[in-house]
Amino acid sequence: MIQLKVKIDNARSFVTDNEIKLFESESDLQRQKVYEKTGAGNDFLGWVDLPGQIDDSLIKSIEKDAVRIKTDSQVVVVIGIGGSYLGARAIIDALSNNFYQMQFTGKNNPLVVYAGQNIGEDYTAELLDFLSDKDYSIIVISKSGTTTEPAIAFRLLRKHLEEKYGEEKASRRIYAITDASKGALKTLAEKKSYKTYVIPDDIGGRYSVLTPVGLLPIALAGYSIREFIKGAHNMQEFLKSEKDIFKNPALLYAIARNILYRKGKTTEVMANYTPNMMYFTEWWKQLYGESEGKDQKGIFPAGVNFTTDLHSMGQYIQDGLRNLFETVVRVEKPKRTLEIPPDKDNLDGLNFLAGKRLSYVNKMAETGTILAHVDGEVPNIEIILPEINEYTLGELVYFFEMGCALSGYILGINPFDQPGVEAYKKNMFALLEKPGFEQETIEIKKRIKE
Ligand code: PA5
Repeated sequence: MIQLKVKIDNARSFVTDNEIKLFESESDLQRQKVYEKTGAGNDFLGWVDLPGQIDDSLIKSIEKDAVRIKTDSQVVVVIGIGGSYLGARAIIDALSNNFYQMQFTGKNNPLVVYAGQNIGEDYTAELLDFLSDKDYSIIVISKSGTTTEPAIAFRLLRKHLEEKYGEEKASRRIYAITDASKGALKTLAEKKSYKTYVIPDDIGGRYSVLTPVGLLPIALAGYSIREFIKGAHNMQEFLKSEKDIFKNPALLYAIARNILYRKGKTTEVMANYTPNMMYFTEWWKQLYGESEGKDQKGIFPAGVNFTTDLHSMGQYIQDGLRNLFETVVRVEKPKRTLEIPPDKDNLDGLNFLAGKRLSYVNKMAETGTILAHVDGEVPNIEIILPEINEYTLGELVYFFEMGCALSGYILGINPFDQPGVEAYKKNMFALLEKPGFEQETIEIKKRIKE
């Protein structure tokens, strides 16, 4: 059995059982496309069977490298962008103490920091300053091996590392995760003899968190990749064998969101009540946004952190344009216990909560918010986890991956390509006068002058 549950009771005014049942034959078809690899983008379906196929030798190698990195580094810089960044960050943040960045003790407990996910000059300069007096290693991740943002960050950090340790020792502190045979990173890794891990050809960036892209950073941050894989594998098996649309959570989620979309609910707001799930929402936004937003179609994925954003975005969700539905990732049990203390003066009037746990207050805020939003015509889907740990996050990741594939097929798009991402790159290269973009440079300069 799986631990994750999907509940659509609070979407009932928009999604009825009869409407779901109308998807029965369609969902069989979409499942077939995924499992028999007959749909659009079928050369990128390597993630479907991945959890059950991860080789023990790969896990052991990652665990060994994680130990090595931990013993010789106070800090580890993970370089990557999009799917080569968000998965690792989502899982590490979800599992970590909220203040772990301030608590790192150096060796055996290195701090994980990220680069190459922006081109901010201050960000990168400040990172280099921070690293100056630290022992550190680099994990550089790029499937194509040619993405501009991580390539720039890697060039700067490699120079910094080589100046610190000398070229040969620096090379032993660099781990490259890239394509098996092509790309600039692969060429460099071979030339400099970096330890290399492969991103399989048939797995796209945003579906890659269960490859070394996610596994190496997660392992070195001190978390069990075996449990993470186990959770994903259990979900894989369950979703494959369960054909009932009401019992298969990925099917139910995919169908419900498509019914809502067809009724004009074109924005899905993911909400959490657990601050360390913020980057999980970012990972989900990329997975669904990049997979579904094409051919002038797709649900816009947005994210909020509650109760924080109830004091900013809450007004819009309750009362703004009624094109929203909300998906709450609910975590039943926090890791810690904290009770509100009594106060003899009770000037803040909170003694009615004395002895109550913060999680109880949070849960009442969650329940009250869901009901208020439902009253405001924002239907609600709940994804429920008993607690946050490596195993449940494995289930959650695979659930969302499969939900995305099925939802994208129901929507009638290819959930595995991202042609729209090229447009900004072409303009940026033209403006930067990259060799090979001469004609585009002429054209874009005319547009800027006009
Ligand atoms: O999901 C995707 O395919 C993208 O987000 C990529 O992961 C991202 O653009 C980074 O690409 P690469 O790993 O080739 O550097």
